[in-house]
Amino acid sequence: MKILIINGPNLNLLGRREPEIYGNKTFEAFFEELKNEFPGVALEYFQSNHEGVLLDKLHNAGFSADGIVLNAGALTHTSIALADAVGAITTPVIEVHISNVHKREGFRHHSWLAAKCVGSIVGLGLEGYRLAIRYFAK
Ligand code: DQA
Repeated sequence: MKILIINGPNLNLLGRREPEIYGNKTFEAFFEELKNEFPGVALEYFQSNHEGVLLDKLHNAGFSADGIVLNAGALTHTSIALADAVGAITTPVIEVHISNVHKREGFRHHSWLAAKCVGSIVGLGLEGYRLAIRYFAK
């Protein structure tokens, strides 16, 4: 079972970025916890601040991985290209947002990705990634 976590723009700053919204933990530290929790799952983590690089990663992994957990950051609300990529690949994708985007500014309420994903988990902090992996691993 191969599951890929993809984080988009600014999520490399987790732990330092607006900790009142996104928490104090780095994703690298959280990813170590995940690897220990899911020893039977081949977990991979990928982050990029660049839309095209994220597209390439989806294309490259999206016909072989068993599941993709995608937090596209702000590109969620702007990128039809990413939505098209999620629609084009065969690997199922779960959209995750750390914060509850529906409680925030109006421009965060719409996701171009949501309709292409098997489901979305928002507002549960980093726990959302764990729940998404658990769903795929079942
Ligand atoms: C986010 C929510 C987005 O609106 C924002 O642009 C992010 C992070 C989240 O995980 O809560 O970068 O995807």
